[in-house]
Amino acid sequence: MQGHWLEIIYLIASVTFVGGLKLLGNAETARRGNLIAAFGMLLAIIGTLVLHEEEVAPIIYILIFSAIGIGTVIGWITAKKVQMTKMPELVSLFNGMGGACAALISLIEFKHNMGDPSKVGIILAGMVIGSVSFSGSMIAFAKLNGTLNKSIRIPAYNIINNLLLVGIFAFAIFLVATNSENVALIYLLFAVALIYGVLFVIPIGGADMPVVISLLNSFTGLAAAFGGFLYGNMVMLTGGILVGSAGTILTLAMCKAMNRPLSNVIFGAFGEGAAASVGGGGGPQGSVREVSVTDTAVLMNYSQRVIIVPGYGLAVAQAQHVIHELEELLESRGVQVKYAIHPVAGRMPGHMNVLLAESNVAYDKLVEMEHINPEFTNTDVVLVLGANDVVNPAAHNDPSSPIYGMPILDVENARQIIVNKRSMKPGYAGIENELFFNSKTGMLFGDAKDAIQKVLNEIKNM
Ligand code: TAP
Repeated sequence: MQGHWLEIIYLIASVTFVGGLKLLGNAETARRGNLIAAFGMLLAIIGTLVLHEEEVAPIIYILIFSAIGIGTVIGWITAKKVQMTKMPELVSLFNGMGGACAALISLIEFKHNMGDPSKVGIILAGMVIGSVSFSGSMIAFAKLNGTLNKSIRIPAYNIINNLLLVGIFAFAIFLVATNSENVALIYLLFAVALIYGVLFVIPIGGADMPVVISLLNSFTGLAAAFGGFLYGNMVMLTGGILVGSAGTILTLAMCKAMNRPLSNVIFGAFGEGAAASVGGGGGPQGSVREVSVTDTAVLMNYSQRVIIVPGYGLAVAQAQHVIHELEELLESRGVQVKYAIHPVAGRMPGHMNVLLAESNVAYDKLVEMEHINPEFTNTDVVLVLGANDVVNPAAHNDPSSPIYGMPILDVENARQIIVNKRSMKPGYAGIENELFFNSKTGMLFGDAKDAIQKVLNEIKNM
């Protein structure tokens, strides 16, 4: 009887996962979606603890509740404290923990299921995928937080990696086929899978880490789904499949937004090799025109249509509140203001949407790239705020550029362009930007929050 109730609870939890995921697709409903799915997960955990049918020693409960307690406290504090700009690092850490969990479950379960080839097959699949996800995520974390900032490219690394991958498959098939009961061989497979995860991520360029994390996230989902198979646990299976498929869809969506196939992300060195070319003389030449706060304020105040292009610098400066204030002031003076949202602006999917939602910018003011691009021709002023790669015309004009082919915001079609950043340093792709040398462009140097606050004060006094 208890089992039936547990199945019903798992069904409800699965529905909350699907519904929550659907609500995550829209900025307005995303918070609710997250809460609904988290509630479903809590329900599934409580249901499992209360309604399971096997006899469990009291010490196991103590261990389970201690682990839940420690995990909750660490997770809660970290998530509360983390800065928005550090979110990709946090996601890679959390994802790595999921992979480690799946791998550890497999290591333990192997000893309980030796001699049953179908179960051992599932266990090994979960272990290999979980281990790759864990070690790969740790490397992604180290790359994102700058601990590992050197480009490490072993000669013929993709041949070595592919050979290793084939070796892992062959070894796992051998263990299943021979019905191996040798635990040492399982630990060997575990170690090789960990090494493969490191070698898989280490040559990939820093700028591509969010794509890699999303890919590893789908691996973790898959590893969890194998766990669901093993235990015949429907909610684990559904959750794992949803994470796996959502991660895959997100990975492909990011690649599409950058106009690069996934193979190019994995085997190219975007953002690292390119960085070396900065200052090498190959970039755009000429002089830049600097503009003052007053020039910017006058230009914006007397415009009819303004488009703001936010980028990673907006997140660094935490300028989302002050830009919203500027937008409201301009609108009160009869200027039409919109935000142009590039799909990979910032460092994580939806980064700009999340930041601007935090300062209560109306959702209908955020216009996606394909809808805003035709509007630049009729725009008096574009304010590029801490964005760089997403407005770099090299994506259209320079076939040798690492971002060639990436769809960009066509800001150069506007009548006037103001670019705010702190220096002439490049963005994440590590390349110069000819937009800054355009005769229509004025550079407003300074931290975004500071500079916009000053522009705001000037306009208030007009
Ligand atoms: P970036 O090209 O990285 O440029 C950001 C610019 O902001 C920098 O040039 C920097 O110049 C400026 N900046 C930094 N701090 C600032 C501050 N406090 N005030 C004002 N400006 C500041 O950013 P983007 O245009 O948003 O492009 C995103 C890049 O990340 C793309 O290459 C994209 O492919 C990559 N990427 C994104 C994602 C996702 S999902 N979003 C995933 C993978 C890769 P200064 O240092 O001179 O100030």
